[in-house]
Amino acid sequence: MKKNKNTIFIANVLFVVVCAGLFYFLWSAPPETTAHLPTDDDHAPFLHMKKKEAEKHCGKCHSPKGIAPLPADHPPKYRCLFCHKREQGAGM
Ligand code: HEC
Ligand code: HEC
Repeated sequence: MKKNKNTIFIANVLFVVVCAGLFYFLWSAPPETTAHLPTDDDHAPFLHMKKKEAEKHCGKCHSPKGIAPLPADHPPKYRCLFCHKREQGAGM
């Protein structure tokens, strides 16, 4: 009987420790720092397009041969606007 109680006690302590660790991990996640879509003339047309529609045009300038190639260490670039968010209400 006594052994059983100890096991339950340890399980409870472990549970609390794991929860605290998870909470700390989520709490200390870094803030979102990825650059937003600029709101200049080059990008104005994309502010009010459907995302998938807009993303078809990014490569025209953001490709190795374009005027603003992506950095060599750029992460996988599928779906630009999921990472480079558009400012809410910009370009109205
Ligand atoms: C007509 C050419 C052109 C098109 C099309 C274009 N861009 Fe750009 N983009 C530029 C130029 C030039 C710069 C660098 C100067 C600047 O910040 O505006 C730039 C800069 C950026 C930056 C960097 C912003 C920063 O703060 O450093 C991001 C992110 C970006 N573009 C995303 C996109 C996405 C996503 C699309 C497609 C929806 C797109 N661009 C389409 C020309 C273009
Ligand atoms: C998985 C997320 C992700 C996707 C998808 C993505 N990017 Fe990026 N992009 C980043 C990160 C992270 C950086 C690093 C610099 C930063 O903080 O903006 C970056 C940097 C850039 C820069 C240079 C910004 C600067 O300050 O010099 C441009 C331009 C850019 N991305 C355009 C694009 C375009 C165009 C697409 C779609 C073809 C795209 N990105 C898709 C995450 C992403």
